[in-house]
Amino acid sequence: MMYRVPGFGSAQRLSDYFKGLAPGLFLRELCLRPGAVGALCPSSRHLARHMAKQVPASGDGLVVELGAGTGVVTQALLDSGVPAHRLLVIEYSGPFVRRLRKRFPHLNVVQGNAADLRRLLPPEARVRAIVSSLPLCSLPAPMTHSILEQWQHLLHDNGVAIQFTYNLRRPKWKNQLRAQQTGSKIIWANLPPANISTFSFKTAKLPAPRHEHVSAEPYR
Ligand SMILES: C[S@@+](CC[C@H](N)C(=O)[O-])C[C@H]1O[C@@H](n2cnc3c(N)ncnc32)[C@H](O)[C@@H]1O
Repeated sequence: MMYRVPGFGSAQRLSDYFKGLAPGLFLRELCLRPGAVGALCPSSRHLARHMAKQVPASGDGLVVELGAGTGVVTQALLDSGVPAHRLLVIEYSGPFVRRLRKRFPHLNVVQGNAADLRRLLPPEARVRAIVSSLPLCSLPAPMTHSILEQWQHLLHDNGVAIQFTYNLRRPKWKNQLRAQQTGSKIIWANLPPANISTFSFKTAKLPAPRHEHVSAEPYR
């Protein structure tokens, strides 16, 4: 007999979903670096699907995923039609990176700090969209500042940024973005519920950020 869980479908699908998430790994990373993980559990497929839907369908340039964790959003991006060769995945934690490379052997998964994003990209790369699960509310403030400066620089040519947050009011990082917010949606079928914001950057090219590198071990 199948039990239905509102928002998730059948109990079988729910069980498959949790197996795919590697909850043990997520919990271990959360205990080691709570501020860097910034979530009690991996993102739900609903959250991931809605984030992926915000990526402009057409256009060249890379789609860069930041803070991929267990890969729920990565999978949703691929499912939504982002070609593997246009997707670049950035993750800071070694154990998550190993798991991502095993799960998506055909993808370019780069271990690095999103605050150094420009250095992690191929030279002359054009970025169409940044899809971020970074916990911008719990990262050290200079790091958040540095990350958002990179977005400003990389997305100036009509790019979009998609970011979710558990702060359903107005998180501070939003005040730092010089971009137009074009979308906002609360996903209730996520633990806890999360707000997805979409930003469009139609601003003039800005000078390169001055402080890209925050520190070798920023979460110590
Ligand atoms: C909310 S969790 C990931 C959620 C992910 N969607 C999932 O379902 O597993 C945030 C992720 O951001 C990563 N992260 C934190 N700070 C980072 C940074 N400065 N650069 C790159 N990744 C970072 C963490 O290691 C973690 O995997």
